[in-house]
Amino acid sequence: MAKILCTGIATVDIINELAHYPQEDDEVRILSQSITRGGNATNTAVVLSKLGHQCFWAGTCVTPPSKENTGDRDSQIIIDDLLRNRVNTQYVQFLNKGKVPVSYISLSRATGSRTICHYRDLPEYPFEVFKQLPLENFNWFHFEGRNIEHTLKMMQLCRTRVPKARISLEIEKVRDNIEILIPYADMVLFSKHYAQNSKTPNARSFCLEKSRQYPQVLIVCAWGKAGAGAACKQNFYWQDGFKVKTVNSLGAGDVFNAAMIHQQLKQQSIAQSLRYACRKAADKCTKKSLIT
Ligand code: FRU
Repeated sequence: MAKILCTGIATVDIINELAHYPQEDDEVRILSQSITRGGNATNTAVVLSKLGHQCFWAGTCVTPPSKENTGDRDSQIIIDDLLRNRVNTQYVQFLNKGKVPVSYISLSRATGSRTICHYRDLPEYPFEVFKQLPLENFNWFHFEGRNIEHTLKMMQLCRTRVPKARISLEIEKVRDNIEILIPYADMVLFSKHYAQNSKTPNARSFCLEKSRQYPQVLIVCAWGKAGAGAACKQNFYWQDGFKVKTVNSLGAGDVFNAAMIHQQLKQQSIAQSLRYACRKAADKCTKKSLIT
């Protein structure tokens, strides 16, 4: 069992299940609605916690309502869910104003695809708070690739203060300067969306190109239903996706990332890690919720 600190966001996900994705200006009936906690870093933390690790979340929330304060009720949804899943929230920064991120998600029953409209009005977790955490207590740090300037300082601090710990980084969206974070990670988990934006035609050429640029880093890239690739020291690995009937793909990437971290912590080979992570991501797609 490892002690893992996940830095990134938590959201409230309002998931509307529809027969199929609507046309613009349509009026459609929602088949079912659920409200849950989401957000990449906390999704990954919850899955890692289910896999037996001791997980902590470093992120921001708004103070929940109390007698003195109108607060933000959505914060309570986030904190309750994390505690239920044994993710430690003692390092969460509570702010007195703002709104925790909310994602309005249209889930198509026809395809299992999820379309996310995201609203946020909350500052990101700052380096000034992160640097006060007892970093020596952790053996793995996982970061969402966002809030670049602060995340860079956080990763640098982890490297110098806890050289034995390992660091993973998720790069999902194209953001200015995001690649300056890569050299500070042991493993970078890229999205297909990011790879396709970098004009590399497939997972193989993307992973090999990144591995050439960053030879010390294990490069991983999930490629949706097709599977996932990885490259290390100019060797390329590929795992075909497992064929399943997709019911809900929401969070499948976060499950994949958690499974890769878990396998690397268990010192499994790259091929085995990819196989396990693809299996877990496919299993997630057959279920409505993130974890069983
Ligand atoms: C899924 C997810 C959702 C959240 C959104 C944030 O990967 O974390 O739970 O609403 O992405 O981008």
